[in-house]
Amino acid sequence: MYHLPGNRATPPPAAAQPTPVAAEAPPRTVAQAMAQTQVEQVLAELDHDLVGLQPVKTRVRDIAALLVIDRLRAQHGLQTQSPSLHMSFTGNPGTGKTTVALRMAAILHRLGYVRQGHLVAVTRDDLVGQYIGHTAPKTREVLKKAMGGVLFIDEAYYLYKPENERDYGQEAIEILLQVMENQRDDLVVIVAGYKDRMETFFQSNPGMNSRIAHHLDFPDYTADELLAIAQRILNEQSYRLGEGATDVLRAYIERRMTQPHFANARSLRNALERARLRQASRLFQAQDVALDAQRLCTIEPSDILASRVFQVSGEQT
Ligand SMILES: Nc1ncnc2c1ncn2[C@@H]1O[C@H](COP(=O)(O)OP(=O)(O)O)[C@@H](O)[C@H]1O
Ligand SMILES: [Mg+2]
Repeated sequence: MYHLPGNRATPPPAAAQPTPVAAEAPPRTVAQAMAQTQVEQVLAELDHDLVGLQPVKTRVRDIAALLVIDRLRAQHGLQTQSPSLHMSFTGNPGTGKTTVALRMAAILHRLGYVRQGHLVAVTRDDLVGQYIGHTAPKTREVLKKAMGGVLFIDEAYYLYKPENERDYGQEAIEILLQVMENQRDDLVVIVAGYKDRMETFFQSNPGMNSRIAHHLDFPDYTADELLAIAQRILNEQSYRLGEGATDVLRAYIERRMTQPHFANARSLRNALERARLRQASRLFQAQDVALDAQRLCTIEPSDILASRVFQVSGEQT
């Protein structure tokens, strides 16, 4: 289980601490409402920081729009029902589900739908105990930590094991369902995982299915998008691709995509880490070469070409 705090770098949102102005004079335009909540900033960062994911970005914006309008309605004294915000994020590994969940937590916080905007990420083992009587306290403990924020349940379908009649996962599901219904103004649950398994899970858990209001599907990245993601990761780490290395990295991506256990952006991140290791040992071996900043930050084609992705199958090391 890991716990990620809400917006650290950004100022406290207006939504969480409404100014007297907000209470007295409701905003007259969407732009004013957006300015009041500062949600546009998070949406812009999402657009800017994450490569691709257009359908996901559109859906996130739609959800934000719904909530902004909902707030406006409330401020105008119109009837509102607290919207159901539980979501499912489906897609293959490394497609950005956890990353977007964090942004979603920030958006919900800005708009005042969760008090703190932190994200607690868990899997089955964090919720389900090994012995009778252990599951309920475990699940409740996790729920307590997540209150006021987002509970992100990765591979949520592992909670349900129909082949095992006595499985304690069912107990966790029932507690989750209760809280998702009764405390939905204080906790948003995001279930994540592979699309097909999630669909099967929903089919056998109509209670869960009916509580999930938003389904976001994360597509696999194209080779171009993966290359752009790689450039961004390298940039963040103050590395650059040397002459010819971009072409080699593209060839690497195209090969890697067809190989087993390919995990989209995560595979890329790992590949770049290995390239950095090779760069370091290459520089380390050239004992007498002057190492300027340029050399220290450049990934050369050879740093990528040494990957086993380029070796003919059967020779893998
Ligand atoms: N669209 C993107 N743009 C830039 N980096 C991304 C993008 N999608 C994923 N990443 C990076 O790839 C890694 C895996 O993403 P993650 O959100 O953990 O995927 P998932 O939860 O779907 O397995 C993270 O390091 C993340 O920063
Ligand atoms: Mg993840």
